[in-house]
Amino acid sequence: MKTMAVVGLQWGDEGKGKIVDLLSRQHDVIVRCQGGSNAGHTVVVEGEKYALHLVPSGILTPGKMNVIGNGVVIDPVGLVEEIEDLRGRGVAVGENLMVSDRAHVVMSYHRALDRAQERKRSGGAKIGTTGRGIGPTYADKYRRGGFRMGDILDRGFFERVVAERVAENNFLLREYFGVEEVSPEGTAAEIVRAADFLRPLVTDTALQLRKFIAEGKGILFEGAQGALLDIDYGTYPYVTSSNTTAAGIATGTGLPPSAISEVLGVLKAYTTRVGTGPFPTEQENDVGEKLRESGGEYGATTGRPRRCGWFDAVVARHSVGLNGCTGIALTKIDVLDGFETVKVCTAYELDGRRIEHFPAGAAAVERCKPVYEEISGWKVDTSEAREWADLPAEAKLYVARLEKLAGCRVTMVSVGRERSAVIMRSEGH
Ligand code: GDP
Ligand code: IMO
Ligand code: MG
Repeated sequence: MKTMAVVGLQWGDEGKGKIVDLLSRQHDVIVRCQGGSNAGHTVVVEGEKYALHLVPSGILTPGKMNVIGNGVVIDPVGLVEEIEDLRGRGVAVGENLMVSDRAHVVMSYHRALDRAQERKRSGGAKIGTTGRGIGPTYADKYRRGGFRMGDILDRGFFERVVAERVAENNFLLREYFGVEEVSPEGTAAEIVRAADFLRPLVTDTALQLRKFIAEGKGILFEGAQGALLDIDYGTYPYVTSSNTTAAGIATGTGLPPSAISEVLGVLKAYTTRVGTGPFPTEQENDVGEKLRESGGEYGATTGRPRRCGWFDAVVARHSVGLNGCTGIALTKIDVLDGFETVKVCTAYELDGRRIEHFPAGAAAVERCKPVYEEISGWKVDTSEAREWADLPAEAKLYVARLEKLAGCRVTMVSVGRERSAVIMRSEGH
């Protein structure tokens, strides 16, 4: 059986959760590989809305195995809450969830540092993080000062080390950032409590995943964030702290790169971004407002209004190339239903020169002026379309134009929040 990765191709919130939920039926195992509870994946099943942060979206499909891989940073307290919330809503969570013993742990001081750093950054330097402790946790991982899930299960070890780590971070919080310290006892106690709850789920997930592959099980990798938030290839420093592209799947799961057979990139029919940083096609006007309202563009994790703009094909090409996409799921095309015309950015003008690639530096991206192509809208409700033939001609032309510019075929078109609101595009169409 083939494996498939579902990855975001813009600045996150492309609708990965919906697509993963939809494809979960055709796979046996759903795996998160990177990021943490900065992710907010909304899935709507029979009118019920779920916002998943750490638990893979496959949890909503009974009979599937869900894995939180070693590349994810886990806030154990948040994970326990998420599991309890799901259980409270009648979703079974137990033997269908595995957590890597190598995944790094988000501690109270990581969350405190994340917020304190953001507060201290001046104006343009603010990243607008989700405040979930993601950056400081990955920083500790790479400087070899972090706790892994396996470490917090070893109570003797954890209790010997935790006070020193809290003291070091409290020094920073108090002396440098001038904010309140975290409580050493409180930090230790909340982790010990959460570790006891999570103990039965924690295992060597890399080993398990290799077994699943050997048994011919279908694996679905659930990306978090999007390519433009990738630590290496995004709009650095206005990015998240992990590799959000398909390349991160291997290190984030312990499977070899050759284990990924297909890569489905998720693209929204327009563009959104939460937090700060360059966004060439942003529309700070009526258009942006209309996209935000029609698309319900408010963050699933922080509730912040998302910045909105036109589709950017320079971004799409950059991301398709980085991920080696074998197909695209184009989401939220229904949100464009009310527009007389829609614009697509095909290239940028940078310092008087036309460029078709995405520049490395955030300052350069900030200076890029989008070159637009205006395409006729359709002014028809597409939300009931279930077959390619149901789409109005202009919408089909829009999809065809985007896939030509992006350099990859659109294999799915999503027209609403529900599982059923999708068009699977067969070969000859
Ligand atoms: P993710 O982080 O990539 O999983 O995306 P989010 O869940 O943060 O944001 C996508 C939002 O759009 C969610 O509220 C989804 O329910 C919703 N959504 C997904 N696909 C569609 C679609 O095709 N049409 C509409 N109108 N909404 C969609
Ligand atoms: P999903 O998986 C959209 C953004 C934050 C901020 C930057 C860094 O739902 O697509 P962080 O807390 O990660 O250090 O913040 O990244 N960000 C996201 N934006 N969707 C997400 O996840 C995001 N996760 C992080 O807004 O700009
Ligand atoms: Mg999201």
